[in-house]
Amino acid sequence: MESPTTDAPELDSPGDRIGPPSPRPVWHLTPERNWMNDPNGLVHVDGVFHAFFQYNPGGAGWGNMSWGHAVSEDLLTWRELDVAIPFTDNEQVYSGSAVIDHGNTSGLGDGVTDPVVAIYTAATTDRLQAQALAVSRDRGMTWERYAGNPVLDRGSREFRDPKVFRYSGGDGPARWIMVAVEAVAHEVLIYSSENLRDWTWESKFDVPMPLDELWECPDLISLPLDGEERWVMLLSTHSHDPANTQGSRMRWFLGDFDGHRFVPAPGEQWRLLDLGRDFYAGVTFADAPDGRRLMLGWMSNWQYAREVPTEPFRGAMSLPRELSLRRADARAGSGGIDLVQTPVVPEGLEWRPVDVAAHEPAEVEVGVTGVLSVEADLAGGRTLALELCSGDEVLATVTLDGASRELVFDRPAPGGEGVHETFPSVRRMPLGGDGRLASVQIFLDAHLVEIFACDGAAVMSHQAFVGADGWRVRVAGDASAQVMVGATDTE
Ligand code: FRU
Repeated sequence: MESPTTDAPELDSPGDRIGPPSPRPVWHLTPERNWMNDPNGLVHVDGVFHAFFQYNPGGAGWGNMSWGHAVSEDLLTWRELDVAIPFTDNEQVYSGSAVIDHGNTSGLGDGVTDPVVAIYTAATTDRLQAQALAVSRDRGMTWERYAGNPVLDRGSREFRDPKVFRYSGGDGPARWIMVAVEAVAHEVLIYSSENLRDWTWESKFDVPMPLDELWECPDLISLPLDGEERWVMLLSTHSHDPANTQGSRMRWFLGDFDGHRFVPAPGEQWRLLDLGRDFYAGVTFADAPDGRRLMLGWMSNWQYAREVPTEPFRGAMSLPRELSLRRADARAGSGGIDLVQTPVVPEGLEWRPVDVAAHEPAEVEVGVTGVLSVEADLAGGRTLALELCSGDEVLATVTLDGASRELVFDRPAPGGEGVHETFPSVRRMPLGGDGRLASVQIFLDAHLVEIFACDGAAVMSHQAFVGADGWRVRVAGDASAQVMVGATDTE
C-alpha cells in the first residue's frame, strides 16, 4: 500500500456511494458526510472547543485535504461548520495545530483581539512538505492563509504535522515550541520561535523504531506527577507492510523537556498508548480549561480506513480523553509510571443493571449508543465473556480472563463485504487490580468500541460495524459479575 500522504488526491463524489445510512455515533465527532482523518488544530477559545480535522470536501476517500471544522461546548456534542482551510490547486492542507496567540506575538492580529493561529503542513504539488500559517481574527471561526507562507521549509518531502505550544519554563522568556516529524527518517524535530513566523532549530529526538514504520503527528505535553512537572512525547506510527499486523498505532515516551531538548527518562522506551486497532493521530487541545490535557484521536487504521463501510461519512474521532500520569499499581507488579486516559463521558447517564448470574448467560439490548460497566470476580481463574452482537452476528468478543489477568478482544472477519483482510484481530491488555476483581468500562457508540481497564491505564479502541438496530450484548462465563448499562435519552 502506498503512503497515505503521497497518494494522488482522489476525487470520488458523495453521489458515488450507495447503501443505507450507517448508524451515526452520538457521543463522537463524525463529519456529516465525506472523509475525515486526523484531528487538527484542537483549541479551546472563549468556552468553545474547536476541532479541525483532515477532511475531503469532495468525497468519502482520502484526498483534497482540507481542514474541516466543528465546535462543541461539552466535547461530546459537535456542530460542524464550513471548511476552515480549503485545499487549493497546488496545496493540500495536511495536519497541524492551532494556538491562541495571546499578546499578538505574531503581529497577525487586528490589534483588538488576540488572533488564533493555525500551523499546518502545506503539501504542495512539487511534492514538498513545509509548515505554513493561517490566521483567524474572529476567535477561530474563519481563517485566512498568511501571505508569507511557508514559514518553515527544509526542502523535505516528509516534514509534517507541526504541534505548537507555549513554553514558559526555563530561564529565558516564554517562547513558542514546535514539534514536527521527519516521517521516514524517524525524527521528531524541535524548533522554537518568538513570533510563530521565524523558527529556530533546537534539537531532534530519534529513538530507534522498526524501519517499516512512518512517524507522524507528534505532541509534547507536560503532566504533573508527585508535585513535579514531567513530559510526555506522543507519536503515531504507521507501517505499510501488510505483514505488520498492527498498521497504525500510537506510542508515548516519558521524559523531560528544558525548552530545547526532550531527554528520555532513564530506561524509558516507547510504550503503546492504545492497545486496539483503531486509535491514531491523537493530539491534545491548546488552552484547555484548568490546564487539562484533553486528547482526541482518529478512530481508524490506515490499513483499512479507505474501506470502512459507513455511509455517508467515513471517519470518526475518539471520545475525548483526559491524560494524567500515575505511579503504577505496585500490586500489578509494574512498578513504573502509567499514562492514564480518562474518558469524558456524557452527563446524566441513566444506569440499569443486567441480571447476570454465574454460569447463566444473560442478554441485553444496548441500542446504538451506551456504556457497559463491568465488575467481575475472577478469583480462581474464572472468566467472563461479553459477546458484542449486531442482531445474531457476533462482531467482537471481550473476555475477562482470570487465569492470565488479561482482557482479550477478538474481532473476527465480519459477514458481508467491504472490509479489509487485515481487519480481523485479537488484542490483549492487562486487567491489573488485585488479581481478583476486574473493573472495565466498554463504550459502544455505533461502530466505535472503546474499552478502559486498570482505571484508565489500559485502553483499547476498535471499530466494529453494527447495524441500524444497535448493539445486543450476551454475557456468559463462570465468574460472578455486576454489569450495568448506562445510556442517555438522546439516542
Ligand atoms: C497521519 C497523516 C499525517 C498527514 C495527514 C494527511 O494520519 O498521514 O502525517 O499530515 O495524515 O492526511
